[in-house]
Amino acid sequence: MTLIEWREEYSTGIPGVDHEHQELINLINTAYEMLGDTADKNGIISCLGDIYGSISSHFALEERWMEQHNYEDYEAHRADHERLLDEIGEITDDVEASTKLDTERLRERLNNWFLAHFKTHDTHLHNAEKSHSPYD
Ligand SMILES: [Fe+2]
Ligand SMILES: [Fe+2]
Repeated sequence: MTLIEWREEYSTGIPGVDHEHQELINLINTAYEMLGDTADKNGIISCLGDIYGSISSHFALEERWMEQHNYEDYEAHRADHERLLDEIGEITDDVEASTKLDTERLRERLNNWFLAHFKTHDTHLHNAEKSHSPYD
């Protein structure tokens, strides 16, 4: 079962960005698949750690571009990155502290966590990136 399907509308037209977005979606889907009946808490925690690592470097890449191009929404976009990192940290802490995993709730949190940012801030940013020449 797949949580997030890659859709053409997600494509930014920037190959490096699309590649990283697809990788992130794959990682989130891996976590989602692990949330079955035989959910293994340690496996899920390590998968959430991988998500944290990949998303941190993706955010750093976006922030570097925004800084270099004096991007108008830099502060708001960066603040949302920080909120997302806090949230994935909280999700991980909750899994660590739980005696019984609420897998339905976790799936819902993971889904909302990424897609909301992706469909708003990132779409805006990557459209701006596209309108710059690669040599800017
Ligand atoms: Fe992005
Ligand atoms: Fe972003």
